[in-house]
Amino acid sequence: MDENVRSSFASVDQTAAPWMLVDLLERTAILPEVVAAKGASFAALGTELVGVVADVGCGLGRDLEEMARVTSAIAVGVDASQHMLDEARRFTTGGRFVCAHAHRLPFRTGALAGARCERLLIHDQQPQASVTEMARCVAAGARVVLVEPDFQATRTTLSGAIEVTALLTDWLRRRFAQPQCGRLLPRWLSSAGLRLDYTRTFAQPCDERLTEEILGLRECALWASNVGDGDEGWRREQARRLLAMTSDRGPRSILPIVVVAASKPPSADEPRIPPSEAACVVETPS
Ligand SMILES: C[S@@+](CC[C@H](N)C(=O)[O-])C[C@H]1O[C@@H](n2cnc3c(N)ncnc32)[C@H](O)[C@@H]1O
Repeated sequence: MDENVRSSFASVDQTAAPWMLVDLLERTAILPEVVAAKGASFAALGTELVGVVADVGCGLGRDLEEMARVTSAIAVGVDASQHMLDEARRFTTGGRFVCAHAHRLPFRTGALAGARCERLLIHDQQPQASVTEMARCVAAGARVVLVEPDFQATRTTLSGAIEVTALLTDWLRRRFAQPQCGRLLPRWLSSAGLRLDYTRTFAQPCDERLTEEILGLRECALWASNVGDGDEGWRREQARRLLAMTSDRGPRSILPIVVVAASKPPSADEPRIPPSEAACVVETPS
């Protein structure tokens, strides 16, 4: 697999132009159905919570304030990118942030009043490791809430064009670590030992520009037209058709965003941790 094809959100600090990712986050965060999905995810964490809730893969940290307001808990943002956290600190006052990988969260077992994660798992080569880690960190009865797109179910104005469907499916697998992430969330949460409580799907219309930025259809055509001969020849033909379809006005799309909440069942052997911030954020990830 050519890693250059992959979305840069998996390694923001290594990309040449992280500001482009920041810009994309800013623009997607105000889309109505994205806002609605975020709101549903905050509410699904619960209200009147005591202690700390974590936003894993917090990006610019814009969700922390609302998450704290809705849940009444202290919100801590976790992100693997120092660049994102620097941006987050520039724009938020009093935000609490920690730089860590989702597979090794810096919280004691059972210490969190909730954990939320939006649009990280789609870039994660081992999403089950992240979900299991969030499940470890939340207290018995607390929830893990996941928000992810399902590109497998994305409908574009090209969707009637079955001649390029195989190419697009192939392309999305190269571009995203988990292109059909949204529909797999219940399975990952259950495998982490959590009990499913809530699932809701939001459908966000995307204009031509956003569709191109997210799906990268012209990049796809370029890639496909450069593959070798032999068995890959069909791709070049599909690439030619795709380019013809996207050359005048690019396609628009409807992007499904899936919100799933699950809670941790009670367990006798889980330590009871006082729900204070100091007692919660302690373990430095190795
Ligand atoms: C698409 S952005 C979403 C940001 C934010 N959740 C939002 O909805 O605006 C994904 C974020 O996850 C972070 N990220 C990606 N992989 C990560 C990992 N393994 N551990 C922690 N953060 C990660 C990226 O640095 C980026 O800030």
